Amino acid sequence: MRRKGRKQKEVRILPNVFHGKPEIISESVQKYFKNKNPFVLELGCGNGEYTLALAQKYPDKNFIGVDLKGSRIWTGAKKALELSVTNAAFIITKADRLHLIFNNPIVEEIWIPFPNPFPLRRSIKQRLVHKRFLDVYRNICLPEAKIHLKTDDENLYNYAVKVIEDEKLNLVAATEDLYKSDFYKDELTIQTKYELQHLNDGKTIKYVCFKFQ
Ligand SMILES: C[S@@+](CC[C@H](N)C(=O)[O-])C[C@H]1O[C@@H](n2cnc3c(N)ncnc32)[C@H](O)[C@@H]1O
Repeated sequence: MRRKGRKQKEVRILPNVFHGKPEIISESVQKYFKNKNPFVLELGCGNGEYTLALAQKYPDKNFIGVDLKGSRIWTGAKKALELSVTNAAFIITKADRLHLIFNNPIVEEIWIPFPNPFPLRRSIKQRLVHKRFLDVYRNICLPEAKIHLKTDDENLYNYAVKVIEDEKLNLVAATEDLYKSDFYKDELTIQTKYELQHLNDGKTIKYVCFKFQ
């Protein structure tokens, strides 16, 4: 079996990876964490760099990496098991189904590192900062929750700033060059696989942070 196929199969039996119907995932999440700690999500997590790094830094919070592709989640999930990071888990699902998994507002923070920019007009609805996703996030987030977007894509950056304005959300931070800004410290220095690739290609990293209130 090819590597990707093997990962896709193996990831589904890892004890820190949940998939299937939303109600099954919801139950598995509760059983796995067994606490009332707030949740932090990483959407389109790929290898789950944010989930892993933050879970190690903040043992009193629950971290979940979310990606629709199990083969991508495999790397982070295996690493979390190897390092015995028990406050991190992963969910294979589309982000627009999260409100079916988290029925209460229990999410304290959402990280969206380098989502697919979906540049074509017909695919705008797939952008993880499109209004239909914001409506989902609003349902699962605590009132003071922060949503962080990192991207190399100027069009997506401008789109996010406009959606935040149109939706009358609270813009906390926005910079077209994160590394040259005052925001470049702490969690914002965590680098993902795509971030490293974009830096290698000479691109600047953009950052937007907003709240619903
Ligand atoms: C460009 S990759 C970035 C991966 C990682 N965040 C990084 O920075 O290295 C975007 C990821 O988002 C995932 N993705 C795209 N749309 C999604 C959706 N609606 N729900 C969940 N994951 C999604 C893709 O499968 C892919 O792994």
